[in-house]
Amino acid sequence: MRKKIIAGNWKMNYTASQAEDFLLSILDLINTDEVDVVVCPNYTALDRIQNILDDKKVKLGAQNVYFEPKGAYTGEISVDMLNALNVEYCIVGHSERRQYFNETNLDVNKKVKVLIEKGIKPILCVGETLEERNENKLFEKVELQIKEGLLDVSAEDVKNNVVIAYEPIWAIGTGVTATSAQAEEMCAYIRKVIAQIYGENVSESVRIQYGGSVNAKNANELLNMDNIDGALVGGAALTNDFVAIVNYEN
Ligand code: PGA
Repeated sequence: MRKKIIAGNWKMNYTASQAEDFLLSILDLINTDEVDVVVCPNYTALDRIQNILDDKKVKLGAQNVYFEPKGAYTGEISVDMLNALNVEYCIVGHSERRQYFNETNLDVNKKVKVLIEKGIKPILCVGETLEERNENKLFEKVELQIKEGLLDVSAEDVKNNVVIAYEPIWAIGTGVTATSAQAEEMCAYIRKVIAQIYGENVSESVRIQYGGSVNAKNANELLNMDNIDGALVGGAALTNDFVAIVNYEN
């Protein structure tokens, strides 16, 4: 049985103190052992947030990392720096990073590997544009993102340490959610791709989230699909809706 994982991607919102205030306002309402709950604040808020997450009921995630260990990379943050703040998860290859910062599958793969090497679990984001969906290229796009994103990652690590987030780009921040059937179809396909590369045992264990306009209204249905093991939530994770999503009915 795969444990669900619901992560809030706060993106470039909230100063450190706003992030702290918001989290304190919802923390007591999150009372579930059945779901791994993760919040991913911006870098400047990680330290403040880790200090109020001591009891581990909610886990800490980062939104990005650089793959080099240290040095002259102005503006970047290393895995060691995240580790020093007890970060447990890190989003990689979010479509906004691919789109605005030109991240390639190769960059994403390097990030996935350094994170795993240092004990942080990558949340690997994949997903197609509307154009790719309309041209029926969605499966080949996502398959390549998975294959290149996980190149040279061992079966053991995929099984235990990798989370995949299927986020169709047309559904992110648009209010247009994929139907539960569309989301399930792609998550099942991703599981099949993982089975082909790593075998059934790994594919049955790896957790696959759906992301893209998840909210308090649609979460129940999405989270009850067979192959959807959680959600990566943007806009709704900045509000009390996150509590309702985390406490979804199964
Ligand atoms: P959204 O963002 O929930 O606002 O669509 C999801 C994401 O980008 O992770």
